[in-house]
Amino acid sequence: MNLPPFKLERYFAKYEFNTEYLLCSSDCEAMSIADLLALESGAAEKFQNTWLGYTESQGHPNLRREIANIYETIQPEEILVHTGAEEAIYLFMHAVLKKNDHIIVHTPHYQSLSEVAISIGCETCAWPAREENGWALDVNELKNLIQLNTKAIILNTPHNPTGYLMSHADFDSVNQFAQENNLLLFCDEVYRESEYNPAMRLPAACDMGEHAVSLGVTSKTYGLAGLRIGWIATKNKNIYHDMVSLKDYTTICNSAPSEFLAEVALRNRQKLVARNLGIIKSNLEVVDELFTNHPDLFKWVRPLAGSMGFPKLLTSALQGKGNIEDFCDNLVRQAGVLLLPGTMYDDSENHFRIGLGRKNFPQAVERLESFLSK
Ligand SMILES: Cc1ncc(COP(=O)(O)O)c(C=O)c1O
Repeated sequence: MNLPPFKLERYFAKYEFNTEYLLCSSDCEAMSIADLLALESGAAEKFQNTWLGYTESQGHPNLRREIANIYETIQPEEILVHTGAEEAIYLFMHAVLKKNDHIIVHTPHYQSLSEVAISIGCETCAWPAREENGWALDVNELKNLIQLNTKAIILNTPHNPTGYLMSHADFDSVNQFAQENNLLLFCDEVYRESEYNPAMRLPAACDMGEHAVSLGVTSKTYGLAGLRIGWIATKNKNIYHDMVSLKDYTTICNSAPSEFLAEVALRNRQKLVARNLGIIKSNLEVVDELFTNHPDLFKWVRPLAGSMGFPKLLTSALQGKGNIEDFCDNLVRQAGVLLLPGTMYDDSENHFRIGLGRKNFPQAVERLESFLSK
């Protein structure tokens, strides 16, 4: 196994804890343990009494019950809890893929969604999101991308970094295509429940049949990244079994305090979603104004869901000098504002990621505006 550096994570490692304004975070505003426990009477006392022994490898039954409530048809025994979504991606790929298998990957993408497969010796091909179509995927392209050795489609909706949300009709077609061609569908749904229009929320892939695995986490929509609690939900018993078996080599079981806190969080997830969507929607107004004021500098495809978007810095903004990396570098050094260059996703067209989930977003945009005016 040979895993190259995770570009986006290394970029964050350099700036995340020494920069005043993080204007490109993918997660929503977090909260303290005290504030989380205050959501439910009696929770603080129960937390104090949490037993610090090993926990059940699949995840605490109470937590799995709360996670199963997110889905329509999933039972607690079809949930496998992990340390973050990242561990689940790693174990899914190792459980289902072998050398020379092929996967089709929604692109651009969070790096591990292809990189773990490549490290196993798999071939990957990009299923491209098209900016000119609002970052949509074209389902008709799947028939040209499939090969004899294709094992899985890797989809991420709502999407990091574009905020694209697939239509119901396209989602049905992808599921049908996967079923008809005997492919697995790994659906990264870590931004699910953050749709700006709830009527556009898609069914979870795991509710569509045994071909699918849904990925969830407390980090993004619910704003609790520090818990490091992620999960997969699937009716596919073989995949579930193989992932359980591999987990003995990564984390064995999850953190008991985090499992308890995640259980409280998910029981109260509607409150967390309302709080975080409130922050995102008010930040969207600020960012709309920024981009309306500067049509000469930016091209903006407004997201449909989630806590980020992927605007493009136009060449006029660069005044013939450098690229998006230079722009972001100058911005963070001179104004203390962090944007994420699209090159972290292998994008070569001067896009950058802007994060909409943080409370200090308006102040960060003010700093960006004054940087632009210089
Ligand atoms: C699409 C996507 N999947 C998975 C992850 C990993 O989530 P976590 O860091 O909570 O493990 C992220 C994190 O940014 C993500 O954006």
